[in-house]
Amino acid sequence: MTAVASATGTIEPHDDPGSNMNAPEAASPLALAARGIGVSFGGLRALDAVDVDVAPGEIVGVIGPNGAGKTTLFDCLSGFVPCEGRVWVGGTDVSSLPPHRRARAGLGRSFQDARLFTSMTVLDTLRVACELDAHRSERRSTARALELIELFGLGPFGNKLIRELSTGTRRIVDLACVLAQAPSVVLLDEPSSGIAQREAEALGPLLRGLRDRTGCALLLVEHDMPLLLGLAERVYALETGTVIAVGAPGDVVHHPEVIRSYLGGDPAAIARSGDAVVVEPAPAQERPRKRAAQKATPPRKAAAPRKPARTKTATPKRARDG
Ligand SMILES: Nc1ncnc2c1ncn2[C@@H]1O[C@H](COP(=O)(O)OP(=O)(O)OP(=O)(O)O)[C@@H](O)[C@H]1O
Ligand SMILES: [Mg+2]
Repeated sequence: MTAVASATGTIEPHDDPGSNMNAPEAASPLALAARGIGVSFGGLRALDAVDVDVAPGEIVGVIGPNGAGKTTLFDCLSGFVPCEGRVWVGGTDVSSLPPHRRARAGLGRSFQDARLFTSMTVLDTLRVACELDAHRSERRSTARALELIELFGLGPFGNKLIRELSTGTRRIVDLACVLAQAPSVVLLDEPSSGIAQREAEALGPLLRGLRDRTGCALLLVEHDMPLLLGLAERVYALETGTVIAVGAPGDVVHHPEVIRSYLGGDPAAIARSGDAVVVEPAPAQERPRKRAAQKATPPRKAAAPRKPARTKTATPKRARDG
């Protein structure tokens, strides 16, 4: 059993989530939809019957303790790991397509370790990323690279070599490379990992601005809870390969299953953490287009704006990799 958010934002039990493999019904195609995603590594069931929906322009978070299956889910959605289930990008069934063809369909992915050529400048790096689009001339690639430099606030770094950049700035260049292909949805796996606190704090406004200006939807794995909860409009919580809750960020982090999955079943630990973390849910934002309903099933209507409230919660503790 898993749990889904109803249209009113409350979380309700839901049986057999992965049984419907039909294309999701929605007024307009979802940026990304997946049904019944499952994968086993030997005897380990890493993902089981996972459904995911991301509406156009929506920012959706994925949380879960280490080993929950978050990166594996991204590997399955982007085609790097063969899996059960089906995946649609902008309404197109990409389930049988390799990663580069899913990218062409509009699915971008940034990796935890930005793999860039360290002896190239930022401008050249972005120019090459833009040239990967076979239809773009050199002049148009340069123009697009300059646009990306402006969009990502990379102006002061345009002529710097990649090796001269901080980890945080490299990650932003990597993200700009992903955006060079004008994706409709981007998967971001722990964008704040390994970067300085100041750079992590700048990521929230940067990612939201990116969504607002391009309309690109984001599916974001992040252990930095303030960052994730300040950005995401809906959150999926994974534990041992299954979705245990999905809904509005404030509801999901209060969900008893989610608290248990981070803190274990020890009531003393849960009680101790109750006052430990204060979370500011995301204030209602101007949206670039119609928002999705807060549902696990395909969204069909605009969600009611949530009243921002200062919430004390036994929020999952920051659980970084080693
Ligand atoms: N290629 C693989 N072969 C075998 N087991 C794997 C493979 N990839 C992932 N796993 C296992 O699948 C489970 C889910 O791993 P995954 O990396 O998706 O977790 P995660 O939620 O991303 O964790 P983290 O928060 O630590 O990044 C883990 O038990 C992991 O050891
Ligand atoms: Mg991971």
